[in-house]
Amino acid sequence: MDDLLSLNRAARLVGVSRSDLQKKIQNGEMNSFDGKVAVADLMLNYPSAQLEDTREFARIAQIKERAFGKRVFERALPDAEVLAARITELSKTLAQSQSQLKQFNLLLSKLWDKLGELEGQCHGESKTKMESLKCWIKQEVASAMEPGFSNPLAIKDGILSVMTAQVTLLPSQQDFLVEGQDTLLEAAMRAGISLNYGCSGGNCGLCKGRVLSGQVKKIRHHDFPLSEAEKEQGTVLMCSNTAVSDITLEAAITGSVQEIPYQQITASVKTKALLSDEVMLVHLQTPRSQRLRFLAGQRVSLRVAQSFDTELSIASCPCDDRNLLFHVRRQPGNLFSDHVFEKMKSGEAVEVTGPQGEFILHEKSDRPLYFFAFDGGFAPIKSLVEHAMSLAVSNINLCWIASDKGQLYLPNVGRAWGDALDNFHYAEQTMDFDLRVMNTKREASLLQFFKGKVAQHPEWMQGDIYLAGPESAVVVAEQFFASLGLPKSRVFVEAVK
Ligand code: FES
Repeated sequence: MDDLLSLNRAARLVGVSRSDLQKKIQNGEMNSFDGKVAVADLMLNYPSAQLEDTREFARIAQIKERAFGKRVFERALPDAEVLAARITELSKTLAQSQSQLKQFNLLLSKLWDKLGELEGQCHGESKTKMESLKCWIKQEVASAMEPGFSNPLAIKDGILSVMTAQVTLLPSQQDFLVEGQDTLLEAAMRAGISLNYGCSGGNCGLCKGRVLSGQVKKIRHHDFPLSEAEKEQGTVLMCSNTAVSDITLEAAITGSVQEIPYQQITASVKTKALLSDEVMLVHLQTPRSQRLRFLAGQRVSLRVAQSFDTELSIASCPCDDRNLLFHVRRQPGNLFSDHVFEKMKSGEAVEVTGPQGEFILHEKSDRPLYFFAFDGGFAPIKSLVEHAMSLAVSNINLCWIASDKGQLYLPNVGRAWGDALDNFHYAEQTMDFDLRVMNTKREASLLQFFKGKVAQHPEWMQGDIYLAGPESAVVVAEQFFASLGLPKSRVFVEAVK
């Protein structure tokens, strides 16, 4: 077990979330060395961390599982060959430790003989000192050899290193864990890390990464040919390989919307379900070989029945790029909406093009996040919140402001996040007027609401503000924050139809 652990690994070992550790570091209760924590510090802060004490981790995992649907832990166990390789590696370490232990025992007995010889030559005070030194060594060795003397974190770390492998990315220095039968690409996406990729299916070569240390294994076939020179340099396709041991990987991270290619995909309707009288949830699934690459908060154009189009925000997380969720409003007379509510069938083809939009999470900021969803603005906000949760952001706040109760069409999602996660705060507000149709009186009422809230929560002014909803409402909110002196670089706005 290394003396310094990444936050991801340390959090796993003591059964807390990564943001709990970040809080301790920020409060000065733990030291951080280049984003890592010392095992000794960890033991000091979590003295009661026991092997079976994984309740907190299980709780967070459950929440994420519920929040993100079926995608998490689908295939919890690593590939059999990967498991065998990890166990072999662990056995080698064990054999090495045992042989070192033997050497130390031998050395100890030689030292003991040497001390006996020296003691025989000593007299008076030196003899007494020699006796007390021997006595001290005896006691220390006895206590170190006591049965039950073991470090619970080391045991857990052993288990963790069989079940998962850690990837450290360069040059970004981010790290994530590879679990189950995930490829490097899938594991990075689950951790909210946006690596460069294209087809996810081994055809385009856009997901090339270079393994600088550690061992990987190809678990999915790929057609894209890598040259001999690339193979020699350690280049692999991240959508086809998994990590066998902890690895260091050189790979590019997508930082901006400009780096995401414009795509055209024919997806199919998996399910549709009414969320309220006014809103339909549409779940589209892309073909296995053609997933939609996008950043949380972006939108796409959808075309149904080969002729009815609309542009909608994706209400799911890019960590599941095959399963795309949309919240479609009922708009009588709108051909797209009418088709969705009245005719759309499971299995039906839907043309997806995009993504568009720059309403994305500004990940480099370490300020608290304040999300304000107005009516259907909940769709892009949901995607951003799920992405922020994947990144284990330490302070997330969501306020859903609705025209009326009917517009709070998924209240349980925010409430469940709020109940289950310590770092997440959820609030709802109904305005009792249509946020899409503003007038002076309504504007004043919305401003009054924000003024009251900021007076109650002055800490909002320290965070990044994300606003999404009907244009008429988000403009008022944007102007309100601007009037308080918040720079444009900290207020992000998405107008939703
Ligand atoms: S994403 Fe296309 S080959 Fe990996």
